[in-house]
Amino acid sequence: MTSTPEFIQVRTEGRVGIVTLYRPKQLNALNDQLIDELGAALKAFDADEAIGCMIVTGSEKAFAAGADIGAMASYSFADVYQGDYITRNWETIRQIRKPVIAAVSGFALGGGCELAMMCDFIIAADNAKFGQPEIKLAVIPGAGGTQRLPRAVGKSKAMDMVLTGRMMDAQEAERAGLVSRVVPLDKLQDEALGAALTICNYSLPSVLAAKESVNRAFEGGLSDGVMFERRLFHALFATADQKEGMAAFVEKRKPEFRHC
Ligand code: CAA
Repeated sequence: MTSTPEFIQVRTEGRVGIVTLYRPKQLNALNDQLIDELGAALKAFDADEAIGCMIVTGSEKAFAAGADIGAMASYSFADVYQGDYITRNWETIRQIRKPVIAAVSGFALGGGCELAMMCDFIIAADNAKFGQPEIKLAVIPGAGGTQRLPRAVGKSKAMDMVLTGRMMDAQEAERAGLVSRVVPLDKLQDEALGAALTICNYSLPSVLAAKESVNRAFEGGLSDGVMFERRLFHALFATADQKEGMAAFVEKRKPEFRHC
């Protein structure tokens, strides 16, 4: 990154890159600058050979309370359409090839819920609350909420959330499949870090292929997805790490991956 970011904090723990959203007074409301800073930080980690996995997190009270309502309240259609405001650069996050875990505590509403869903999986604290309340503002989700939420929780619950604007607590989110695990609030960061460190210890080519292949399940048909997965599965036999991983199993020892 070229300049010091204002609305995020960036640090590393071993091979894990951690980005903390940091606009505490606005409950991490997401403006264009924050999204640009987040995208730049994730891209820098993606390009960094010393990093194998990333975590995006917020504060105890809010992962993010959505797009910045104050900033967009007076925009006209021409402003947002021509300038691609509010949602500009959100898709940068989808270009990240290494895994990105969302560690969510507190509110993940509107764009905050959408941002969490853009990550590869969500680990939630027991105080997390998810929702797409845009209907209350006379708009609809604008960063993928109407597309990713039904894929995550099914049509009925997604319609319920998007049409009523109600919040879902962490337990409901886990039952519905929106989050992969729920942990006590004081364990959230350790749990996310533990998952990230586990992933970092695997061979990076297989991690990238696994992420790419699971993502195919969201975007295409079953036959194409299965064929795509098979090609990547076969391709991984070209890596040194596949030889090491399987030899280590046969020889009953720990593998030493070189990420190639
Ligand atoms: N944008 C801008 N500011 C926000 C914000 C947002 N999305 N959410 C909270 N804030 C600000 C509040 O205005 C308040 O600021 P002040 O102290 O200066 O008044 C501060 O954060 C604290 O918020 P509250 O006093 O409201 O805190 P609370 O605990 O009573 O309520 C809340 C918390 C339920 C999250 C409530 O703040 C809320 O409903 N926020 C809006 C949620 C929302 O509608 N999100 C969707 C936005 S639209 C969107 O995201 C579009 C998209 O898809 C891309």
